[in-house]
Amino acid sequence: MTIIVTGGAGFIGGNFIHYYLKKHPGDRVICLDKLTYAGNLSTLKPVMDNPDFRFVRADICDREAVEKLFEEEKPDVVVNFAAESHVDRSIENPEIFLQTNIIGTEVLMDACRKYGITRYHQVSTDEVYGDLPLDRPDLFFTEKTPIHTSSPYSSSKAGADLLVLAYHRTYGLPVTISRCSNNYGPYHFPEKLIPLMIANALNDKPLPVYGEGVNVRDWLYVEDHCRAIDLIIRNGKVGEVYNVGGHNEMKNIDIVRLICKELGKPESLITYVTDRKGHDMRYAIDPTKIHNELGWLPETKFADGIKKTIKWYLENKEWWEEIISGEYQNYYEKMYDKR
Ligand code: NAD
Ligand code: TYD
Repeated sequence: MTIIVTGGAGFIGGNFIHYYLKKHPGDRVICLDKLTYAGNLSTLKPVMDNPDFRFVRADICDREAVEKLFEEEKPDVVVNFAAESHVDRSIENPEIFLQTNIIGTEVLMDACRKYGITRYHQVSTDEVYGDLPLDRPDLFFTEKTPIHTSSPYSSSKAGADLLVLAYHRTYGLPVTISRCSNNYGPYHFPEKLIPLMIANALNDKPLPVYGEGVNVRDWLYVEDHCRAIDLIIRNGKVGEVYNVGGHNEMKNIDIVRLICKELGKPESLITYVTDRKGHDMRYAIDPTKIHNELGWLPETKFADGIKKTIKWYLENKEWWEEIISGEYQNYYEKMYDKR
């Protein structure tokens, strides 16, 4: 089988490529990635010499480049991870989110229609459901929860999801969608909560917690997400949406305190800063459907996953130190200096 993985130089796509090549030796894996600020070739260094693997630098919005790749490789399956993924950046500049997340999805699916594939899988997010109130712990997102987005990021992902379902209904494209909760683990770009707090704590820098730190996210170890996607592309039903998440709800402040504890750093580093605009309160996934239909359950408990993640950041300092020493500095100053 030949599979194109877009956005494979990013956090989850990179983990997926490592997972997939180990799990399915002999399958051909092509990573198509534009290498934006979030793409990092060193994430793929361990597989660059694998004869089953090919890296192609291209933009998913570039129709000519995408079609050329389809012509060369004749993929069976396309898994689309490529996206602008950071909510704070989408608040600053929504345009590139609409371009990559919606138009890029259209271009990829048009190529799938033209050349024929057995499956197009869209990697989406629980953020398309909006948020849940903190005082209703009995409520969860199911696949039937209405789309109700808050940020330009989640709106662009929701737009793409609707387009994917439209391509199924209108053209019969064999699609599936997964909507996952917050991931954490190795190769996570240090603009996101967990890696940012680990990197700052290790450098004895302030730990910027938005608002009061009471917002809740449902955390999933990235490898559990990769396993879910692999199951969906093999056994999932065409035209269906699958929620992926594992009842691992945590308040932001509790995560930051845990990171301080694990690293032996003082909680006095914690600094409360101006809240994010439109900040979603709580995300929580009901994974009943993927459990019942595909037998998926998360395998890594948060207590173990966060230890593994911190260990990885300690052992792979060159990976993230290179990132935070470059263009990231300008981003950090812009986002946090006057916050
Ligand atoms: P990321 O920002 O770490 O990586 C995105 C990758 O896409 C980068 O390698 C980047 O270079 C590439 N890319 C961006 N624009 C591109 C373009 N126009 N053409 C080709 N490549 C392009 O993102 P991530 O956290 O790994 O997220 C991957 C996917 O999973 C996204 O679609 C995101 O919406 C979704 N998702 C993420 C989470 C999470 O917790 N991080 C949770 C649920 C769903
Ligand atoms: P983030 O990792 O950006 O993921 P998302 O917004 O997609 O859930 O943020 C996770 C939570 O952490 C969110 O409630 C915002 C909060 N947060 C902070 O408090 N401080 C920070 O510096 C960052 C990046 C996030």
